Amino acid sequence: MGGVDYGERIPNNVGLAEDRRLQRALESWQPRFLRWWEELGPSQFSRHDVWLRTAVDVGQEGWANFDYVRMPEYRWGIFLADPEPDRTIGFGAHRGQEVWQAVPGEYRADLRRLVVVQGDTEPASVEQQRHLGATAPSLYDLRNLLQVNVEEARHLWAMAYLLHAYFGADGREEASLLLERHSGDQDRPRILSAFNEPTPDWLSFFFFTYFTDRDGKFQLHSLAESGFDPLARTTQFMLKEEAHHMFVGTSGIGRVLARTAELMVAHDTDDVRPFGAIDLATIQRYLNFHFSVTLDLFGADTSSNAATYYAEGLKGRFHERERADDHQLHGSTYPVSAVRDGRIEVVEVPALQALNQVLRDDFVADCTKGLARWNRILAESGVSERLFLPHVGFNRQVGTFAGVAVSPEGRVLSPEDWAHQSSAWLPSRDDRAFVASLMQPVTAPGQMVGWIAPPASGIAGKPVDFAYVRAA
Ligand SMILES: [Fe+2]
Ligand SMILES: [Fe+2]
Repeated sequence: MGGVDYGERIPNNVGLAEDRRLQRALESWQPRFLRWWEELGPSQFSRHDVWLRTAVDVGQEGWANFDYVRMPEYRWGIFLADPEPDRTIGFGAHRGQEVWQAVPGEYRADLRRLVVVQGDTEPASVEQQRHLGATAPSLYDLRNLLQVNVEEARHLWAMAYLLHAYFGADGREEASLLLERHSGDQDRPRILSAFNEPTPDWLSFFFFTYFTDRDGKFQLHSLAESGFDPLARTTQFMLKEEAHHMFVGTSGIGRVLARTAELMVAHDTDDVRPFGAIDLATIQRYLNFHFSVTLDLFGADTSSNAATYYAEGLKGRFHERERADDHQLHGSTYPVSAVRDGRIEVVEVPALQALNQVLRDDFVADCTKGLARWNRILAESGVSERLFLPHVGFNRQVGTFAGVAVSPEGRVLSPEDWAHQSSAWLPSRDDRAFVASLMQPVTAPGQMVGWIAPPASGIAGKPVDFAYVRAA
């Protein structure tokens, strides 16, 4: 692959300088993007030096550079992973054919929809997180938040590039709309509901990056299988950045638990609130909320759209190539849940119809690993309580379980029982107010606020007490 062109206004490895029309279109989108960043991004840190990672190459080694950057000067670029020679479509009706370098006319509307929905989530999360910097538990955490923010904005660039480069006038229109819909906006909300929920505090942020960025991982993996090669290569590179976002969530919750457990043992109590930490019951309620809201992002359990995207070769399964089947799913079935007479049953449906459920099951399996890690922290601290993932039917608004009251253990409840008990399972107003009361900013290098343990190590070889963010 040709190297990255940093002499350009828009760093890229897609040969932008050779396509003047596209370059002009993106250069006219760029100031509107910057205006959006200034208005709805973490603008109170515009003048700070932030120790940030910037993507500078797509190779296996050394793809990122770390340095102090002022965020409005961050080099948001367009990077596609190296092309795979002789790549063929791995699934669906076109399996075995050469991948597409242009949008097949008959799939244009479906492909554009996939790009728009993915693209819409990227700036949405920046908007949701824009106030968190004011209450960061440490400079280390502040830097991680801002890193996630600039990279989600780069993911917006990645999708805006595809729209501009491959979808003509309607693509340009869609790229504009990515900057016009806003998280939580009454009139023009973001497309998916989890991206209109506020992220009001750092406990929410850590669970968001654990669960909702992980949904992103699974969506990107299935798009990385696409027969439309530019989409596959764009999302392959996005996955490199995504890994850090999930690390922020996994390690963030792990550190919250370490601090809570330390105080539980020291004071021989479950009630650590008087000591300025978050009790396990509250942490479990936040977990229940974020897990269930994120499950909705995968869509209906059976979906003819998902079947169509797969058959067309646009969106595959997680690790499609490693699966030992016909990659067309002719005649195969997959188990999904159904609610009948107040009981949850498993029924077999055509596998093609169940692809959302397949992806959601892969996601849940991945979530389970982090849970085990968190529970190890509790065990090693000498605490006997454990966190758990609620039943997939709990608190769902989309799919089979929408409108069905299900307890975290998986019991179907009457609406009255749900009304009585759900406040024990979801964050209450009191929980949220308590967590909000703990959100006190800490701005001295190396210091941590009292509700979270320090990280095991710093970022990219720097110590924990490094000045990750400094006022100019
Ligand atoms: Fe992203
Ligand atoms: Fe992310």
